[in-house]
Amino acid sequence: MVFLFWVLVMFVLVGWVQGLGVNWGTMATHPLSPDIVVQMLKDNGITKVKLFDAEEHTMKALANTGIQVMVGIPNDQLQMIATSTKDAANWVETNVTEFNLDGSVDIRFVAVGNEPFLESYNGTFIQYTFPALQNIQNALNKAGLSNIKATVPLNADVYEGVVPSEGQFRTDINDLMIQICQFLASNGAPFTVNIYPFLSLYSNENFPVDFAFFDGTGQPLIDGNVQYTNVFDAALDTLFWALKKSGFPNLPVLVGEVGWPTDGDKHGNINFAQRFNQGLLKNIMSGLGTPMRFKAAETYLFSLVDEDAKSIAPGNFERHWGIFQYDGTPKYALDLSGQAQNKALVSAKGVKYLPRRWCVINLSASSTALTQLSDSITYACTHGDCTSLGYGSSCNSLNYQGNASYAFNAYYQANNQQNGDCVFSGLAVVTQTDPSQGACKFEIQIAVSATSKAMNSCIYSLISVAGVAAVVLLSFL
Ligand SMILES: *[C@@H]1O[C@H](CO)[C@@H](O)[C@H](O)[C@H]1NC(C)=O
Ligand SMILES: *[C@@H]1O[C@H](CO)[C@@H](O)[C@H](O)[C@H]1NC(C)=O
Ligand SMILES: *[C@@H]1O[C@H](CO)[C@@H](O)[C@H](O)[C@H]1NC(C)=O
Ligand SMILES: *[C@@H]1O[C@H](CO)[C@@H](O)[C@H](O)[C@H]1NC(C)=O
Repeated sequence: MVFLFWVLVMFVLVGWVQGLGVNWGTMATHPLSPDIVVQMLKDNGITKVKLFDAEEHTMKALANTGIQVMVGIPNDQLQMIATSTKDAANWVETNVTEFNLDGSVDIRFVAVGNEPFLESYNGTFIQYTFPALQNIQNALNKAGLSNIKATVPLNADVYEGVVPSEGQFRTDINDLMIQICQFLASNGAPFTVNIYPFLSLYSNENFPVDFAFFDGTGQPLIDGNVQYTNVFDAALDTLFWALKKSGFPNLPVLVGEVGWPTDGDKHGNINFAQRFNQGLLKNIMSGLGTPMRFKAAETYLFSLVDEDAKSIAPGNFERHWGIFQYDGTPKYALDLSGQAQNKALVSAKGVKYLPRRWCVINLSASSTALTQLSDSITYACTHGDCTSLGYGSSCNSLNYQGNASYAFNAYYQANNQQNGDCVFSGLAVVTQTDPSQGACKFEIQIAVSATSKAMNSCIYSLISVAGVAAVVLLSFL
């Protein structure tokens, strides 16, 4: 009955549609300058951004734009903020109050940590997260900024359940989760959760592919009299059930990260990413929500641009989540209004590139030398981004020498095409002929401004470990 009702409303256009948010990460060797990114956000009608820090140039670029902002506190600062109300107050003063003067940067949320309860962190941040959350919200309240809400972006592995109605918080952190929910509720702050259907597919060969997307499946998940046709709704409802059972049936929920990568895995490709994101946007923008809550959660796409310096501990796909490439070029058509029309995204404007030249293998080198490349390739790939070479990725069909060229070029571009960086004992040579082959693109890096270089030098060790999530909702198979 509930499901029937839900299906019926699906076909009625509901007026309640809210702006879309995106995650803007900057862990790139050559990040786009904040001004270019902010213009790109405006050109695409994106009205909300989620950041992983509160970097000064980024914040300044966001001033007086009307774009709503979530700033972030990296996990490695949680301990400091948890153990000192003074440090928490300083953080708020420097990173919120300063930019919020006269409302110039429209800060709405502070993300305290990033997925701090991931099981792969072995509990490192468990004791600090809740006190840090309290200290930050209290500091905000004291500074007269109680309209800004502190929240904790949590990975979906904080709750579990074979079917949504069995949803409950992970037993090892159940009491802590309830304390956090109580605190969020009493401050009118939302619960923030990151949901990754891609990882369901990535980590389970038997996961039904259609169930990861939004266009129906032959294998719906049956939960009592409700049927789920996509894992996103099922994952959200599992959380809603967990909240309900814990006494928080109405706690607002915000989806902090959700998206699909385009490379670095056999399921990471343009077709799947477009299919997922377009289906997701339609689902969200309909405003209909899930069987448990007939209202779409405020949602932040992951992510805006590719980041070639992210940790690949979770997998090679980590550097390919962007709806835009590293240089702000759209990867595929995406209608952000959710109408699923064949609309192009608007490219970044004013991007300056390094000169049109690439570093490739020197085919005049002796055949003995050419068969002994592997150390050079390994070295180049340690310092450059070779995540497109692996199995199922866009450059996987290159031959051995193609691999070497790709690696040399990745290294050369990462190092700003400096002369000494295309040598490799005479095995490498600079060319002005684009070595790209079909879908396998040999990039030219962007020329980085002084500002971005400064940002780049302080890349912090925050790893958005999407990849290590426990996968719920699988055992129904
Ligand atoms: C402001 O935020 C940045 C980035 O998170 C951090 O490095 C800096 O320490 C913060 N300022 C204070 C006073 O804590
Ligand atoms: C967690 O523990 C495992 C196994 O002991 C270890 O390999 C891993 O590096 C640890 N991770 C962190 C973040 O401490
Ligand atoms: C390419 O290899 C040949 C043969 O070893 C060598 O003479 C030439 O200098 C190399 N080219 C470059 C640019 O190193
Ligand atoms: C090229 O490199 C990738 C990634 O290391 C590897 O999977 C592939 O087998 C290599 N191709 C050849 C022909 O060596």
